[in-house]
Amino acid sequence: MTELIPAPRSVVAGSGEVRLTARSGLHAARGTEGVGQWLRTVLWQATGLPLREARELDDTDGDGIGLRLDPRLGPEEYRLVSDPGGVLVEGGSAAGVFRGAQTLRQLLGPDAFRRAPLRRDRVWAVPHVTVEDAPRFRWRGLMLDVARHFMPKEGVLRYLDLMAAHKLNVLHFHLTDDQGWRVEIRRHPKLTEVGSWRARTKIGHRASPLWDDKPHGGHYTQDDIREIVAYAAERHISVVPEIDVPGHSQAAIAAYPELGNTDVVDTASLTVWDTWGINPNVLAPTDDTLRFYEEVLEEVLELFPADAGPFSPFVHIGGDECVKDQWRASDTAQKQISNLGLADEEALQGWFIGHFHTWLAARGRRLIGWDEILQGGLAPGAAVSSWRGYAGGVTAARAGHDVVMCPEQQVYLDHRQAAGPEEPVPIGYVRTLEDVYRFEPVPAELTPEEAARVLGTQANVWTEVMEDQGRVDYQTFPRLAALAEVAWSALPAPEERDFAGFERRMTTHYRRLDALGVGYRPPTGPLPWQTRPGVLGRPIDGPPPNL
Ligand code: ACM
Repeated sequence: MTELIPAPRSVVAGSGEVRLTARSGLHAARGTEGVGQWLRTVLWQATGLPLREARELDDTDGDGIGLRLDPRLGPEEYRLVSDPGGVLVEGGSAAGVFRGAQTLRQLLGPDAFRRAPLRRDRVWAVPHVTVEDAPRFRWRGLMLDVARHFMPKEGVLRYLDLMAAHKLNVLHFHLTDDQGWRVEIRRHPKLTEVGSWRARTKIGHRASPLWDDKPHGGHYTQDDIREIVAYAAERHISVVPEIDVPGHSQAAIAAYPELGNTDVVDTASLTVWDTWGINPNVLAPTDDTLRFYEEVLEEVLELFPADAGPFSPFVHIGGDECVKDQWRASDTAQKQISNLGLADEEALQGWFIGHFHTWLAARGRRLIGWDEILQGGLAPGAAVSSWRGYAGGVTAARAGHDVVMCPEQQVYLDHRQAAGPEEPVPIGYVRTLEDVYRFEPVPAELTPEEAARVLGTQANVWTEVMEDQGRVDYQTFPRLAALAEVAWSALPAPEERDFAGFERRMTTHYRRLDALGVGYRPPTGPLPWQTRPGVLGRPIDGPPPNL
């Protein structure tokens, strides 16, 4: 069988196969040329077959590949037919054809995911089959935290390929935090000169006594960002940048001390943070701070153009975990509260976020933030990433806001994926592959109209305890494959999902991940070099809250 992940809507198997040979052609009809380029390149690398350019569909002689648009299909819907006439992939848009091309690659077998042929004499065949498929959710995402530990550009491009192989379409790019600022801003160069590196780093949970005394850092130049956005667009992935305000900002304050609450702390003595947790050093809620971040966002909007993908108009402004102690103690903040006629510090945060909502909307962009942005009152049109359980998402959907469901109790992939002492740096809840497979993004209490506000779901990869690509791979895979199926496939209610069937398909999928060079967690547990003996985590036992 075909063992596709994520599972398509419908698969009808035939009895023969289409053999790709050195004579096979590939015809990409109008509007699918980019997909054709991509498919020819990856298949040429894996198979060594040139897939010459065929001028027409029937010019492929029954052993070729055709790509074309079918306007009757939805934007990401596709139909793949492999029969004696060859392989034809049709989609409602180039994105749909691209999703179908991913299915075609899976049908060719795990070695189709390699970058060079293992042998020249092997037979490459697509079984006769008809696949009809469309996604359940429009937003199928992965959040990568490149602030806590920097992921070099090559690693980000690799993750875009891994996302594409799983039919995911939104990279939520967490570019700034207390521990690092990762995007070059020309007007404010110290954000990266000072803010992109730290002298040392806590190893493990913040209560761990261990330090890595090797400086850690790195950032993306503006051209790196342009390359990442273009590479994503070729794979029909939207990149949503996150510039976190007014909390999670110590790296920016270390670079420009005037951004902090200077009447409360000596912000000039702050450095890029070297440990983990919720940080009290937040931005000063002043007009000058707003101007500074407008200047940052002007460059961000240019780097992440609105027309690069369906979710490219979105800019994520964070809004989470902004501790209000400094605002309570600051005369400047208190004067701002009274000047603006606001009730309290929560309302001040609402004013801060609301300012950027209006500012972004005036530039044709949409604000998205973590669910705390609901607390100060949220303007229509803003969207919410629901992370503290489902509650924020439910409130937001009922108030008419679009929602991305990513509750920490279910889809935070930094959380350990098995009980037991051998899991590396175990933090959070035990969230197994099966738990993620049974995650339901739409809470039952929503009406159909409210449920339609749930744009989709994403997994969040926070990297405090993931210092390199191997650790990110281990935490992310195989659970991202389960999340991809939750986001794409029309699965039944959680308890009715066929996890055993998913696991059976995973046996093939692990071979695809092997071919892609992914350092996933094996079903039997970590390999010796995937463990981190002696590094303190923080397991949470018992039932998670907010369920
Ligand atoms: C978050 O996990 N602070 C969004």
